[in-house]
Amino acid sequence: MAILETIVIAFWAMLPAYVPNNAAVLAGGGRPIDGGRTWGDKRMLGDGKTWRGTAAGIVTGLALAGFLSLFAGEVRSATGVDVPEFTLLAALGLAAGAMLGDILASFLKRRTGRQRGAMFPGLDQLDFVVVSLPLTALLASEWFFDVFTWEVIAVVVILTPILHVATNMIAYKLGLKNEPW
Ligand code: CTP
Ligand code: MG
Repeated sequence: MAILETIVIAFWAMLPAYVPNNAAVLAGGGRPIDGGRTWGDKRMLGDGKTWRGTAAGIVTGLALAGFLSLFAGEVRSATGVDVPEFTLLAALGLAAGAMLGDILASFLKRRTGRQRGAMFPGLDQLDFVVVSLPLTALLASEWFFDVFTWEVIAVVVILTPILHVATNMIAYKLGLKNEPW
């Protein structure tokens, strides 16, 4: 498989996992998931993880997967790149996994004494990959192993941090995020 084709497939397949975080930033607010609860003297998750942001993220990821699936056939015949359609369970694994990874990262940040918005290099960039890929493999095994070959996974691991840094920098410059990470 040509490298460019692998990159296009990796990006396409990961879009339903990439976009939920950005949708959560736009829609976030309201009641925090942890309801303000603390564990020890630290918050469980913090005010940055809300029900509304999480729901909006998952719904956006599902909608995007549906949208991409509508155009997959056309993209394949126009470009020759074998971009996949998404099954509902695949879409759910990617979108919900991304949100879950982000929530898990917040939990780890609070446990390690980091305030809301604090940076956690490495975790910030890959948290959603670490949960969305295994969850998708679990929920939609056949689809997952068909699409996510080792080459695609390697591209995802390299491409994701780069995209993450770039999109967060843009969101920060636009005033949508309080920190550039
Ligand atoms: N957001 C949300 N619900 C989520 C994820 C994000 O409401 N599940 C919104 C919040 O308004 C949050 C903003 O998106 O402040 C930015 O997201 P993120 O950087 O992930 O959260 P932080 O505020 O940095 O909090 P944390 O340190 O816990 O990651
Ligand atoms: Mg943050």
